[in-house]
Formats: sequence, C-alpha cells, structure tokens
Amino acid sequence: MTAEQYRTTRPGLLGAANVGQTVQVAGWVQTRRDHGGIVFVDLRDATGVLQIVLDPDAGTAPEEVLSGLRREFVISVTGEVASRGEEHVNPDLATGEIELVATELRVLSPSDPLPFQLDDRVDVDEGLRLQYRYLDLRRPAMAANLQARSTAIRAMRRVLDAQGFLEVETPTLVASTPEGARDVLVPSRLRQGHFYALPQSPQLFKQLLMISGVDRYYQIARCYRDEDFRADRQIEFTQLDLEGSFWGQDDVLEVLEEIAVAVTKDLRGIELARPFPRLTWQEAMDRFGTDKPDTRFGMEIQDLSDLFGSTEFKAFAGVLADGGTVRGINAGAQGLSRAGLDKLVEQALSLGARGLVWMVVEDDGSLRSPVAKFLSDAEQAGISEALAAAPGDLLLVVADRFSVVSKVLGALRIDMGQPEGHDEITFLMVTDFPMFEVGDDGSLAPMHHPFTSPEDVTEMVESPGSAASRAYDIVLNGAELGSGSVRIHNPDVQAKVFEVLGITAEDATRRFGWFMDALRYGTPPHAGFAYGIDRMVSILQDLPNIREVIPFPKTQTGNDPLTGSPSRVEDEQLGELGITVAADVVAGWAEEDA
Ligand code: AMO
Repeated sequence: MTAEQYRTTRPGLLGAANVGQTVQVAGWVQTRRDHGGIVFVDLRDATGVLQIVLDPDAGTAPEEVLSGLRREFVISVTGEVASRGEEHVNPDLATGEIELVATELRVLSPSDPLPFQLDDRVDVDEGLRLQYRYLDLRRPAMAANLQARSTAIRAMRRVLDAQGFLEVETPTLVASTPEGARDVLVPSRLRQGHFYALPQSPQLFKQLLMISGVDRYYQIARCYRDEDFRADRQIEFTQLDLEGSFWGQDDVLEVLEEIAVAVTKDLRGIELARPFPRLTWQEAMDRFGTDKPDTRFGMEIQDLSDLFGSTEFKAFAGVLADGGTVRGINAGAQGLSRAGLDKLVEQALSLGARGLVWMVVEDDGSLRSPVAKFLSDAEQAGISEALAAAPGDLLLVVADRFSVVSKVLGALRIDMGQPEGHDEITFLMVTDFPMFEVGDDGSLAPMHHPFTSPEDVTEMVESPGSAASRAYDIVLNGAELGSGSVRIHNPDVQAKVFEVLGITAEDATRRFGWFMDALRYGTPPHAGFAYGIDRMVSILQDLPNIREVIPFPKTQTGNDPLTGSPSRVEDEQLGELGITVAADVVAGWAEEDA
C-alpha cells in the first residue's frame, strides 16, 4: 500500500452486503468512546458515518496513536466489515447494521480542540459559526444545505440545457446602473477617481446578449447590492438569471414553472401541480394586502367601504370622503386579552395606520368594540356578514389610503395567520405590476426597473401613476422569489420611460447612451426573469435565513468574521488608487482599535 492510498471506499456507502470484505476508509473522527479497553470511533465523511472498532491489542496502530485520537482527527482505517449482531444495530445510522473491525489505522491530520461542538442539536453563536465556517460546514445539517444548493442548481441547469439555453458569463466590473439599490463600488487604479460598480444584476448585459443574437440565455449570476441586511438579504447573493428573444410573458412563466417544479421535485420529492395560480398585482393587493401573498391560509381582506356610504362614524366618513377605503379581515378566534389587542393597535400605528378598529364577536353575534357605539346596527350586521363572523372571532378594520390599508392589514394577516405552522409549498405568479411606484411627494420610481415595458405607452405618459407594466413575480410561501418583465425593445419607448422618470435626455445619454445606441441596431422583442437562488433554497429547505444556504455569508452588519472583511488596506495601496481616507474616519479607527 502506498502512502497516498487513503481509501478504497467511503464510510456511508457500506452496508450488510459488504460484510466479510476488507476495505479502507478515510474521514474525520466524529466521536470516540472507550468501552472496556475497546475503542469505538464514529468515522464521518461526506457520505455518512461508520462505526470503527479498535482493539488496542490487535496492533492496528501504536498505543499512543490510539490513545491520542481526538475529535476531528483525520484518519485512514483498513479493516473487515462485520455485522453488529441484532442487539447492537443502531437504527439511527444508515450504516447501523455493520461496523469496521480495524486492522490498521493511520492519522493523516490531527485537530486542535474545537471552538464549539459539531453537533446539530447544539446551539452555537452565529458569530462563532461564521468565524469557523469550515467547521460549521462539517455539521450534517450544513453539509445537507450545501448539497441542497448544488441539487437545486443542477435541476435548473438540466431544465435550461434541455431547452437549448446558452450559459453566458457577464462581467462583474461594470458601470453603475439604476436598479434601486446602492452600488458596491470598486476604484480603478488605471483611471484614478473612476469607479467600477459590481452588478446589482446582469440586467443590461443580458439584454445586450439578446441584441447579440444569443436567443436564450442563462447564468448562475452573483449580484451585489449595498442594502440593509435582512434575513433574506445579503450584500452579495446569487440569481438564476435568464432571458429569451421573441418571448412574451407566457413564454417566460412557462420556463419558470418548469424550473420551480424540477427544483422542488429534486429537493423535496414533491410533484407540484401546474399551472401555478396567477394573480394580478391588483388582485393580490386587494385580497392579501401585499404583492407577495402567502396563500397557505385564507383570512382574506374584504372591502367594507360600501357599508359606510352614509356613516355617522367620523373616522370612516372622513377617509371615504378623501377617496380612501375601509377594509377588514376576520382574524379568527385569537382569544386576545385587552393588552394583546392594545398591542395590535400599536403595531398598526407603527405601520403607518391612523388607527385600528378591533371587534370581538360575542356569543349572541353582537360586536364588542371601543367603536361599536358609533356604528349603526345595519353597519355592524354588514361587517359581520362581509367578514363571515362567528362567535369568538376577532375582526380587524382599517380605514385609510389604499396603500396604507393594504400594508397594515397585509402585515396583521401574516402575524395572525401564523404561516410558519403551514408546511405546504405554495408557488404563485403575480402579474400586471404597476409601472411606477408613486412616492408621498408624487415622485415616480420604477416598480421593477426602468427597462421594463409599459403595458401601453400612451397610458404611461398620460397617467403614469396608475399605468400598468409587463412585470411579473414568482412568490413562494409569501416570499418574493424572483422577478422579471417583458423588456422595452424600442429606443423611443425607452427614452419616454426615462423622461417620465424625470431623467433628462442629457442625463439618459450620459448614463445609458451606450445602451440606447444598442437598442437602435435591430433589437428583438425579449423578456426574462431572475430567481433568487439563496431564497429559493432556504425556503424549500425550511430555513429562516438565507445565510444557512450560503457557504460563506456575511453577518448582519456586513462582516466576514472568518477572513475579517471588510478590512483596512495599506496607505500605499490607497495611494495607487488616488484615495485618501477622510481624517475623521481615520480618527474613528483609534476607538475601533481600543
Ligand atoms: P430583482 O431585483 O427583483 O430583479 O431580483 C430578483 C431576485 O433576486 C433576489 N434578491 C436577493 N436575494 C438575496 N439578497 C438580496 N439582497 C437580494 N436582492 C434580490 C430575490 C429577487 O426576487 N434584473 C432583474 C430581473 C429581471 O428583470 O430579469 C432583477 O434583478 O429573490
């Protein structure tokens, strides 16, 4: 046997069929137990765990080697596969019927004592996990997450490759483009004072590829956005980005469904029914108060405005007179105390509502509520009917502008519906998004991005605030999984969109002249989409945070405790870039260092 001969098979691949065979396996010492002189080691590698039996008298290795074996030592063991005998079978282990009786053991690498236990059942501080991510990833749950990510990406590639998509890489040092988030900038050394941006997505490059005649493109694309971190947001994340020429919305949605079906099948073994439900944006907002509805439970929003056409209740009358709306949900039997109800009201206020009307349905069907005295019998009966009220139910009503009512009821609905308790997988598509988001000051921002086609150009110019676009989203269990749109392929329409957004022709030329030029050279109609891969895998793996499916993520504050990024750099390096760090920032370092 040569020194480089480490293994002839893998621990997790062995079973009863191998009994009597002599094999060599290699891996990590997961546990070590001493039983009356005999040492039992659980040996782990990526395939699984195998029990090794070491008899110190059998001459498998020098005594000091055996007594020195510690957790996470890397060893290679030769031995004979033996049956454990019925009474010793470990049903929790895939290889639980067998063990390897060692005849030779070599230590390939020792390990220092571990900073934390590599046990899925032990809760470890996340900072520590990230600092020693390479150890964290040895835990079976994390190894399974890496596996799941790879399985998902393989399923995506399978679907797209079968349909003739071309996988194309696009640059990661690009010009800054307006996709809504702050750019991550990279200073140029050769052109001091100039900066690359890391792409927020490959949006314009994939459109250029359509102009290049690529026809169908995809990429597993790393994207960078300097946004506030959240459970489902990282500064760098990965998209499955795709685009097709001579495509309309239905062509894209068809492919997206196939991908979702394949990934869900491979990850969860579940065959999803097609087609996925489709809602227009307006329907989603009306029924669920959000553009990413969780439809695993009902509790839909009902419009109650018609009940209050001539109400005496000033709060509702005022809102309706101002063009607002009165809507409510039946939150079911929540059994909340007065303090619990007060808390709900506070929550509604913090979401921007002027108030929240709660009503509890009494046994006789009457409504107990601080505002009951202001509502006529007919109004109360109308609310009960519209919300299908039953004794014990909690009814929540908000009167305000449509956007506020939707936001508040949408959020309360999620809280009250406790979707964590619903373990099914519900994909749905939301279509017909508005073209623009209207700010409180009347300003317009693209709802998706400015390269999205309006439904109707005249409507967009004449009434941009209510104009529809050809953008669509895919939602999984109440989370936005991905977005896309039919694109603008006519340079004049693109110019109009910039104009409506208040970008001057001069500015548009300066920032996107290169793209506007490209549109003039025979651009095929095209459409596309991007799935957030981190989100997709984490939700399908039932994990609350995308960090769990990102091998080396950043913390909530954007740091990598493993490598220490972001870090300061030498003055010399900054000098080459023509950059000096502001004096007050340098002064702050002293505090940081203290
Ligand atoms: P959009 O900006 O909607 O569309 O992004 C698509 C999907 O990417 C995921 N995502 C993120 N995941 C983790 N961390 C983040 N910070 C983050 N930001 C976005 C989400 C989201 O739905 N170019 C367009 C797509 C297109 O029009 O084709 C785009 O990037 O799951």
